[in-house]
Amino acid sequence: MKIISDPRRLSVEIDNFRKSGFSIGFIPTMGALHRGHITLVENSVSQNDVTVVSVFVNPTQFNNPEDLKKYPRDLDKDAEMLQEAGCQLVFAPEPADIYTPAEMNERFDFDFEGLDKVMEGMFRPGHFNGVVQIVSKLFTLVNPHKAYFGEKDFQQLAIIHLMVRKMNFDIEIVDCAIVREKSGLAMSSRNERLSNGQKLQASYISSVLFESVALSKNISIQELQRLVVEKLANAPGLRVEYFEIANAVTLQTLKSWDEPAVGCVAVFCGDVRLIDNVRYN
Ligand code: PAF
Repeated sequence: MKIISDPRRLSVEIDNFRKSGFSIGFIPTMGALHRGHITLVENSVSQNDVTVVSVFVNPTQFNNPEDLKKYPRDLDKDAEMLQEAGCQLVFAPEPADIYTPAEMNERFDFDFEGLDKVMEGMFRPGHFNGVVQIVSKLFTLVNPHKAYFGEKDFQQLAIIHLMVRKMNFDIEIVDCAIVREKSGLAMSSRNERLSNGQKLQASYISSVLFESVALSKNISIQELQRLVVEKLANAPGLRVEYFEIANAVTLQTLKSWDEPAVGCVAVFCGDVRLIDNVRYN
């Protein structure tokens, strides 16, 4: 497995793969890899000739500088896990390898067609501009046939699908199911910052989401919304930022259970912000 930081060297490697007729699977990550990421890599390995993974903590998608500073980083450990999973090429650039100073400082412009006005977009202004900025750059550099994303970041995934359509990338986006701890807690790099006690508290988030699926058969959208928020608000150690029951395609507030429905939540456990979601149909 090669580890490369220079985009020009990456292009040479990718050209060689393409000339050899290899199919390329790609997983963009910010490192601090866990079993969720490794599942994406394994999916790619089973479906492509070569698998490329980027490890880059993208500064332009952090609206909170403290969050960027605290984001866990361990390239050696990540590389070990990637090698074992069958990845052939790791792209691990520094911000200066990727961005000009102007790109670092100016918000990337993109018409999200309203997908950025709700949930994560409301609470993390500019976050998705940074995500589209980096993922479009990485897609151009890696030029993969398929790219793999986890459904834990439900809104991000919807935005990536929109970006691929609008920017005419010839890349198949493969949506991959959320990978959970035995306790139900959705796997996340941020879980590393939770104590064992906090992990237990945080596992209540998924319990409430799963319970809400059963409840959704019998009560109204508004009632369910209120109930979930109340349960999470009363749970020790948790602070709810939002819980939204949304149309799973438009991400706008759900009007009827006949629409494709998803419940998305952001909760603080201590100072660690966690997100999770569940589908209702
Ligand atoms: O989901 C993530 O880890 C990041 O948002 C991504 C897609 C790697 C872009 O930096």
